[in-house]
Amino acid sequence: MFRRTSVLGAALLALTWLTTFVLAAPSAGCGRDPTLRSQTYNINVNGRNRQYILRVPNNYDKNRPYKLVFLWHPRGGSMQKIVNGEDPNRGGILPYHGLLSHANESAIFVVPEGLNQGWANNGNEDTNFFDRLVETVESQLCVETSLRFSTGFSWGGGMSFALACARPRQIRAIAVISGGLLSGCQGGTEPVAYYAQHGTRDSVLNVGMGRQLRDQFVRNNGCQRLSYEPQPNGGRSVRTDYQGCRPGYPVTWVVHDGDHNPSQVDAGSNTPFAPKNTWDFFSQFQAQ
Ligand SMILES: *[C@@H]1O[C@H](CO)[C@@H](O)[C@H](O)[C@H]1NC(C)=O
Repeated sequence: MFRRTSVLGAALLALTWLTTFVLAAPSAGCGRDPTLRSQTYNINVNGRNRQYILRVPNNYDKNRPYKLVFLWHPRGGSMQKIVNGEDPNRGGILPYHGLLSHANESAIFVVPEGLNQGWANNGNEDTNFFDRLVETVESQLCVETSLRFSTGFSWGGGMSFALACARPRQIRAIAVISGGLLSGCQGGTEPVAYYAQHGTRDSVLNVGMGRQLRDQFVRNNGCQRLSYEPQPNGGRSVRTDYQGCRPGYPVTWVVHDGDHNPSQVDAGSNTPFAPKNTWDFFSQFQAQ
């Protein structure tokens, strides 16, 4: 079965996103007294000062390997707006993409600040920023290095895509929320677990752009292509879990009838579906 409505999708979630176990690989920071805490940091990357906000879980346990989640802001956004959130009824993103309650203190969050409020990734400067953040955080804090994730809306989705292309073995899964090819794609031939959602009425990044990115990972992940293009069911999103993908490399596509909106809801609901979908997709992976 390829296609189901989001209502059925929710009911069948447990059946379709089976837990995938990955080999545990705790970082060098495990067992060390932490030198990083929840605050804004500056870091020099290739001679430029870069900034990020780190969120360390409450009651941080230096012997517990945490997930590491990167949240990249959209064009014109900022790390502070990701942390504080903006009114979702006006197209804003919930604080920390609405992921904190789902994560339940099981993840370290890294919220980087773009140059010129975006992720042009000129000369790979943003990919290099990611590399430095991984090194810095993982040498000081306890991270499960097989469970790194990345998500973002719009340009933040494009940046997550760029990392899936260029750092496929460093990233377990990404979630692209209304993204496009905006930060480049170096490499881009290896599999990465891929969630994306996009609106058919997107007036900023046409849905065709989201489909193009998706199809690259449908190919990379070895999934069966569809003979049709999934459409929203009126005001309800439609979720498609691709079949036949390499084990551990699923692709899920959620199409809705909305505009360029990170906080899209289904008809009859007040709850944006991106946070739960994203977290369920990420947390199907567990280290052991
Ligand atoms: C959150 O995590 C704590 C500690 O790991 C656990 O006891 C609790 O049941 C979790 N809560 C939810 C809602 O999963």
